[in-house]
Amino acid sequence: MIENKQETIVAGIRASGKLHIGNYLGALKDFVSLPNDKTKTCFFFIADLHALTTPFEPKVLKDTVLDVTATYLAAGLDINKCVFFPQSQVLEHTELAWIFNCLLPLGELERMTQYKDKILQHKESINAGLLTYPALMAADILIYKGQSVPVGDDQVQHVELARVAARKFNNRFGKTFFEPKTYMQKPLRIMSLSDPAKKMSKTGDEALLLDDSPEEISRKLKKAVTASEPGKKSAGVENLFLLLEHFGTEQEIAGFRDLQKNETLKFSELKETLANNISGYFAEFREKKKELLAKPDFLAEVLGDGAAKARTVAGETLLEVKQKIGLL
Ligand code: TYM
Repeated sequence: MIENKQETIVAGIRASGKLHIGNYLGALKDFVSLPNDKTKTCFFFIADLHALTTPFEPKVLKDTVLDVTATYLAAGLDINKCVFFPQSQVLEHTELAWIFNCLLPLGELERMTQYKDKILQHKESINAGLLTYPALMAADILIYKGQSVPVGDDQVQHVELARVAARKFNNRFGKTFFEPKTYMQKPLRIMSLSDPAKKMSKTGDEALLLDDSPEEISRKLKKAVTASEPGKKSAGVENLFLLLEHFGTEQEIAGFRDLQKNETLKFSELKETLANNISGYFAEFREKKKELLAKPDFLAEVLGDGAAKARTVAGETLLEVKQKIGLL
């Protein structure tokens, strides 16, 4: 049974590769902590249907879903305190997405910056899913009557579109959904280590993966772009300080900021501190994840159990929606 608490939280992560520190700080870390708050009902999922919008291989997709499942669990997600499942196993998501596709104006979808970026990146395979992606995302949230959505900065525009979908539906068919908000007042954006003008993403050397060994973390950070002179501020240096805010002690943060002010900051020392702290922070995670990946049947069972719970709530919402729009 899923208890009805005061606030419903919904969010997911795409099964499109190994998760990085941006995914962790922007989303997964909140997924782990939020269910401890007894006033919140939490639904967290693996967005495997959204993974179909960019090129994929079936075998790799299957392995990635298990890998992301192990990542959620190794990071500390407590499946007894939240509902955790793969999006594709709860068919109600896609049915509500279709209804939103028929409600959302094309212009609203076309102006999404992620859509505009992706159609430039994937010129040879611009599929319709890239355009309608936010309608599915709105359905993911609203099928559970979600109110608050823990996401990084790059997904804020999509959450706003989910608000538009909720508003349009409510205005036309009567109050049904909350207008969801992002959970963080100021969502986070961790930048690429090699090109700090871009956000960190799931591919390439510019991302610190949660699975990276201490040696990998150190190697990637050593190569991270900084600034030409020790005291200079730059996007790369500020990105390292942003990481330090999450993985450093107050003393370390204040100490390195002082050195920066005095123009005596050695980037190599800042990078070494970060590498040590990040490696240490994820040491237990790496061990737990290895153990979990050795138990694929257990992971599949966790996903199946979660999906069954999610379906009970999603089914109720869809029934209400279909009645309201005249399909039932
Ligand atoms: P995805 O898989 O691209 O990213 C998962 C989460 O990680 C955040 N994130 C970042 N945060 C900070 N800095 C970064 N560099 C960074 N890169 C990624 C993202 O903002 C996101 O919160 N569309 C979503 C998945 C999704 C979803 C949903 C989320 C599908 N349906 C419904 C919330 C609600 C996505 O592609 O995430």
